[in-house]
Amino acid sequence: MQFKEYLLNVPTYRPPKPAGEGDAPIARLGANENPLGPSPLAVEAMRDVLPHVNRYSDAGSWPTRRILGAHFDIAPEQILCTNGSDEMIYMLCLAFLREGDETVMADGSFVSYGMRTLAMGGQPLRVPLRDYVHDLDAMADAITARTRLIFLCNPNNPTGTTVGSAAVARFLSRVPEDVLIVADEAYIEFAEGADTPDLLAEVRGGRRNLIVLRTFAKIYGLAGLRLGYAFGSTEVISYLDRARTVFNVNALAQAAAPAALADTEHVARVRAHAVAARARFTEELTALGLQPIPSATNFMAVKVNGDDGAIAAALLERGIMVNPIGGWGLPGHIRISFGTDEENERFFAAMREVVRGVPATV
Ligand SMILES: Cc1ncc(COP(=O)(O)O)c(C=O)c1O
Repeated sequence: MQFKEYLLNVPTYRPPKPAGEGDAPIARLGANENPLGPSPLAVEAMRDVLPHVNRYSDAGSWPTRRILGAHFDIAPEQILCTNGSDEMIYMLCLAFLREGDETVMADGSFVSYGMRTLAMGGQPLRVPLRDYVHDLDAMADAITARTRLIFLCNPNNPTGTTVGSAAVARFLSRVPEDVLIVADEAYIEFAEGADTPDLLAEVRGGRRNLIVLRTFAKIYGLAGLRLGYAFGSTEVISYLDRARTVFNVNALAQAAAPAALADTEHVARVRAHAVAARARFTEELTALGLQPIPSATNFMAVKVNGDDGAIAAALLERGIMVNPIGGWGLPGHIRISFGTDEENERFFAAMREVVRGVPATV
């Protein structure tokens, strides 16, 4: 067999160690999941479909596209549904990158952008964050003749920070028309009140080199179901449609989506929980002498006085799973997803022990 060298070199995703038998229950604060669960209305909608899963789902997710179109006031032809927004990142790289092509992203942003670029034989160019925020001027400067995609994660995972409307407007005016801007807004629903640009309006207004990614995995609490969606020009959406596997979105996900969208009370409850947790985390981490990064999301990152991997391992020994993000371009930092109130208090107690006990190695 002839393996592709560049695919062999892509690191595989290794989930943190699962809890062994007899271990205390693990608080999963490592994957930015929704600790309050899915909407009960979405669960009910899935139950109705369960006896019918002998049938294939709608191949193009057209009912879901139409519902999303009505909800967001955009034509269904400008929407594409995927098996999680991660699949959309994969499809974008598949559709736009030839071997040796470049993608531009922040150094300290969602890992999939780099991994999927490498999987296509492309070259990720990583631009340092400035004060934990995307440096959009430097990112625009990094564009070369080989750049095909430029990733803007807003709010950014793993820092939780946002870039404002003015900086994004300048960026949009600087990116050449033949470079596709991928605005990943996985956490945008948590950022209410923050100065974030209305990029959906840009797509509605006819901008061709912009695609906006959203997901049901975060505020809607449907991470395990796998459903993402994107808004773009009809030209880009119909092009990407060719890179899709036929039944990419399963029947349960398509059943859950309208119910999850309609349950605005659940969404408001999840958002309020995250806003309250941000205040608690800021207070507790500051009291430990740390400087948490101000977050507009359902997680928070913080520089720890030590090796991030060692701190995360020490927390895991205490039943708390967090994400060490040294490998994401932020050495000495961990990212903590907000859990239930009880899980958050367990984290604070464990963190007090760990911060005082683990020797500094960086
Ligand atoms: C910024 C960002 N984009 C995309 C994703 C992938 O989301 P999904 O579960 O819809 O594939 C994540 C998941 O953590 C994320 O943080």
